[in-house]
Amino acid sequence: MGNMTREDIVQQLEQVRRDAEMALSQASNSEQISAWHSEYLGRKGQLTAILRNLGSLSPEERPQVGKVANDIKVALEAELQARQEAIASADLEAMRRAGSVDVTLPGRPQAPGKLHITTRTLRDIYTIFAEMGFQIYNSPEVETDEYNFQLLNMPPGHPARDMWDTFYTTTPGLVLRTHTSPGQAWAMREYAPEPIRVILPGKVYRYEAVDASHESMFYQVEGLAIGKHVTFSDLKGVLMNFANQMFGQGRHARFRKSYFPFTEPSVEMDIDCVICNGKGCPVCKNTGWLELLGAGMVHPRVLQYGGYDPAGFSGFAFGMGPDRMSLQKYGIDDIRYFFANDARMLERV
Ligand code: DAH
Repeated sequence: MGNMTREDIVQQLEQVRRDAEMALSQASNSEQISAWHSEYLGRKGQLTAILRNLGSLSPEERPQVGKVANDIKVALEAELQARQEAIASADLEAMRRAGSVDVTLPGRPQAPGKLHITTRTLRDIYTIFAEMGFQIYNSPEVETDEYNFQLLNMPPGHPARDMWDTFYTTTPGLVLRTHTSPGQAWAMREYAPEPIRVILPGKVYRYEAVDASHESMFYQVEGLAIGKHVTFSDLKGVLMNFANQMFGQGRHARFRKSYFPFTEPSVEMDIDCVICNGKGCPVCKNTGWLELLGAGMVHPRVLQYGGYDPAGFSGFAFGMGPDRMSLQKYGIDDIRYFFANDARMLERV
């Protein structure tokens, strides 16, 4: 094909177009369609073959012929699509006639995926504390007696151990952690003597009689801040900010004195009931208040076990139950729904 002129090539292109259109009108299923595509438009197809001969043309002619070829390609592609749609609807019509498709049936809804409520609540908590400079720190779920109790100022035989109904393992000295507080010791021992601002989220385990408000596995989020001048006012400020962001601005809170072996002084924080705004309802058992978390100033002995000199450092800590918060926030009446693996749970919110 040595000396093809511009006219020769254009003629060839037109011919390919006519052939292609003819062939397309006869294609009636997807195999034929794809064979047609490789024959005419594919990399080894007729159109490409012709364009290989542009070398014999002058530099002015080449783009002119190129444009003709491209227009043909675009046109053929459009015709291909129209043909495919026609075939698809003809197929559907054939199926319908044969009775294999009942077009009066309602469609099947496609349920979009949803995050578990616990995941959402945890992420809300992470975001709020991240804005206040708290990093996430993870620690083990299977703990030693030392970390779960001793480093938290509960030596063997300490009566306060009874505050947690503990799952012991068959290995002496190993327990399922009853709270996220042992994470405090892990974080302190990693960072001392640097200042710390962490939250420690995760699963905890208790040997509970399971009912609507008690599960044997649930989540906690622990918080810990240590520095040279960390005060109880810092603790209150951080927790008030958290309550307002989590449950809405203008939240009222009260701090009640309490006891935890690892904090001194210790408090529990209540907020006015998010359901009735403090008026009294079944959720708050008509008190108008919901118990939100335990907190306090880190006990000097706990600081010391963690590697900080209590003469130079102070800290606050808190521990909250995100599942309880979800119950309140979303008005769910039974904590057992959370991990019962029933997908309908996800539809509730
Ligand atoms: N660990 C406690 C519990 O599980 C909660 C708690 C109370 C954590 C006071 C703290 C704290 O860090 O300061 O009941």
